[in-house]
Amino acid sequence: MKSQKLTKKGNLYFPTKKFQKKAWISDKKTYQKANKDPVKFWESLAKELVWVKTWQKGVEHRPPYFKWFLGGKLNITENCLDRHLPEKKDKIALIWEPEPTTERPKIYTYDELLRQVNKFANALLKSGVKRGDRVGIYLPMIPEITIAMLACARIGAVHSVVFSAFSSTALKIRLQDTKAKILITADGYYRRGKVINLKENADEGVKETEVKKVIVVKRAKNKINWKKDRDLWWQDLVKNESSQCKARTMDSEDTLFILYTSGSTGKPKGCVHTCGGYSVQANSTGKWIFDLHDKDIFWCTSDPGWITGHTYTIYSPLLNGVTTLVYEGVPDWPTSDRWAKIIEKYKVTIFYTAPTAIRMFEKYGKGVLKKHKFKTLRLLGSVGEPIDETAWLWYFKNVGKEKCPLVDTWWQTETGGILITSLPGVGPFRPAFTGLPFPGVKVDILDEKKRSLPVGRQGNLVILPPFAPGLLRGVYKNPKKYLDTYWSQYGKKIYFTSDAAIIDKNGLIRIVGRVDDVIKVAGHRITTGELEAAINSHPEITECAVVGIPDEIKGEVPVAFIVYKREKPAAEVKKEVVGQIRKEISPIAVPKEVYLVEDLPKTRSGKIMRRVLKKLFIGEELGDLSTLANPGIVEKIKKIIEK
Ligand code: WT7
Repeated sequence: MKSQKLTKKGNLYFPTKKFQKKAWISDKKTYQKANKDPVKFWESLAKELVWVKTWQKGVEHRPPYFKWFLGGKLNITENCLDRHLPEKKDKIALIWEPEPTTERPKIYTYDELLRQVNKFANALLKSGVKRGDRVGIYLPMIPEITIAMLACARIGAVHSVVFSAFSSTALKIRLQDTKAKILITADGYYRRGKVINLKENADEGVKETEVKKVIVVKRAKNKINWKKDRDLWWQDLVKNESSQCKARTMDSEDTLFILYTSGSTGKPKGCVHTCGGYSVQANSTGKWIFDLHDKDIFWCTSDPGWITGHTYTIYSPLLNGVTTLVYEGVPDWPTSDRWAKIIEKYKVTIFYTAPTAIRMFEKYGKGVLKKHKFKTLRLLGSVGEPIDETAWLWYFKNVGKEKCPLVDTWWQTETGGILITSLPGVGPFRPAFTGLPFPGVKVDILDEKKRSLPVGRQGNLVILPPFAPGLLRGVYKNPKKYLDTYWSQYGKKIYFTSDAAIIDKNGLIRIVGRVDDVIKVAGHRITTGELEAAINSHPEITECAVVGIPDEIKGEVPVAFIVYKREKPAAEVKKEVVGQIRKEISPIAVPKEVYLVEDLPKTRSGKIMRRVLKKLFIGEELGDLSTLANPGIVEKIKKIIEK
């Protein structure tokens, strides 16, 4: 069969007729209809789920708070699993590919996944977990992370997943905030062929928390410490449990999960997501944006420890009854074409990844592409950070062979699901532009004075009511943070995204980047504030400033400028600072460079001028330095960087 390429008009690409024919949505009218009455529109999407009790009211808005599907009752796992049975009893729900190539993959049918979820749900009940209790999950990319999350949801417990590459301190802060009494973890996992001892971190992380029981999955069989009165093997716990467990009936507005994201001060924010609204958005955005159909093999490369993994590695594909693929390791191990081999091996039809990975694949070059034809792919996605034109075109041409629509999806931990991207059967797609807001979603680009900006002018991206049902309902136990972060810039009725954006004449949106201190390191969200807090906790350090610097592969990387007491050799301090960040946050946050400086450029009121440091590093024109209290330091820092 001859494959068809997308048509190009000017700088825009459009889906082929063949794609449109099978697509869920191929008509622009969907937008008009949805935007005329967004509440009715979301209600119509909600009807695609199975509800124990239908809602009485679509939405209620008491700024800055809002609720969706009031009075509705459901359970997300019933929608992910039970409702697909018995039709999809033998259909594969989950494929797990381990990192070691010598090991065999694990395959779960819908029936088997439900049985495993129920067994573990029963084990949790027996361990004393009740509706509304928070459960910490600190697991790598193994099937048990999916099972654990779904098991919590099944019994109405609130999962709080902590990314497995986060440090013990990061884990501890989150466990303390949620007051979880149970933590689910593993002995270890594989990363670039090495076994990482996760249990060691978990042991450290649960100290000074209320965790009473630690459930441990045996994965890498590495040596671990064992606390007899606290630790339990997952495998032992589930052995004699029944594979039936009734899904608890949840209210739409009950909390489904809490997921922490970087806060500016070093204390992360717990984004609260609900059972009803989140499920509706996860279901419908997946269906329409990835055009999920029964035969699809969907590979979202995100770790479930991030929101992308929650929504598009786990919930959305299962809600839609397709096959989701989870790969334990890194995409370029043991060979640079591992990712391509996985696509070929499992006949992946939809591939969703981050620009960092795309730029890495591009770097590995033509060899990979010669061997792999990607014939099964029919749709590509990108997420997490701005994708530049070069990476977009490379991905579109070399992986998608110009025949796959490429959806660049914009959203945040806070939004729960995708909010901006062109629909694959409608388009248009423009390199470096994320696209149109999802039907029913209203956004604007405002200047500082709340004026709506015209085409081509950069401003702040905001979301207008009625907000999509998946948007966060609060910051866990911190209403002030919720108000300050999202609802103070433009008042209580306009959601402030903290992203700068531009709109083109077709209504397509280009995301420029964050306007706060968030940096996206390989798509991972980190704030310079939390890095600074970690560095400042070192006794040798008097002051520091961290800035995000553009990076060819990772998009952005942190660089640290440090003033220290000079009581220790410089090299030692540098090493310790790096160690400090590993320990307090994660190896993923380690700065590209650490500079020891005498002083930091400051205004007369003592504010550190991070902007100047960034320009110094990139080698950009510094502009007016007259507001600096200590202009002399600029030359000195420049010399240090050049050295
Ligand atoms: C921030 C949110 C969305 C799930 C993963 C990230 C940036 C996200 C895009 C995109 C340009 C993007 C924004 C956003 N971002 N997607 N397609 N193009 N930038 O979730 O970790 O909460 O980060 O990621 O800056 O605000 P997150």
